[in-house]
Amino acid sequence: MRATLSLSPLQKVRNMNVQGYLSGERRYVAQPMIVLIGFMGAGKSSVGRELARMIGTTFADLDEEIVRTAGRTIAEIFQHDGEAEFRRLEREQLRVVLEETDPVPGVLALGGGAFVQLWNEELLRENGATIVFLDASVEELQRRCHEPGVARPLAANERKFRELYQKRRETYARAHFTVNTQGRTVKQVAHEVMLLAVPSRHRTQ
Ligand code: S3P
Repeated sequence: MRATLSLSPLQKVRNMNVQGYLSGERRYVAQPMIVLIGFMGAGKSSVGRELARMIGTTFADLDEEIVRTAGRTIAEIFQHDGEAEFRRLEREQLRVVLEETDPVPGVLALGGGAFVQLWNEELLRENGATIVFLDASVEELQRRCHEPGVARPLAANERKFRELYQKRRETYARAHFTVNTQGRTVKQVAHEVMLLAVPSRHRTQ
């Protein structure tokens, strides 16, 4: 049974979302938002979707929110307005998701560069998010980025991709938890994130 998300006073508490407690009872429990970070190709969106399904909560993808709000693809924003403008939109969208969305999503996937902007990291921490870093080797990430899917402006140049990966790893490692995704399925990774980051009383499997 999926909860209706409109009634609990818990929703008034910042950082909390409300999810249905499965097992026949209509009970509502609050749970901090889980935010997935990591480099391009880490699987943040697919794992986020699967994790939200597993724990019966809502999912949002920050890049998808940006695209929806701007009415343009990420590649178009980079091409026409440059990376600085993309970062501004990203920051504003993160603020909207955390502070103006009711209820806030239970699981949020960020784009690879979002967490390395200090302002965004601070906003997430202030809002009590549980931050999970999805990691893999740079070779594996590069291979995944070459699979058909979303166009990634910062994945086009192999050397720059590696440099950016090295530069960002230290910041990603400030997450509350790190999960290795190398050679593992989306389901396996989502399950490990659940075990690490979701208190057992919130789990439905
Ligand atoms: C970026 C990663 C992309 C997207 C944009 C910039 C980055 O998201 O936000 O192209 O700076 O690493 P994914 O990590 O989902 O590919």
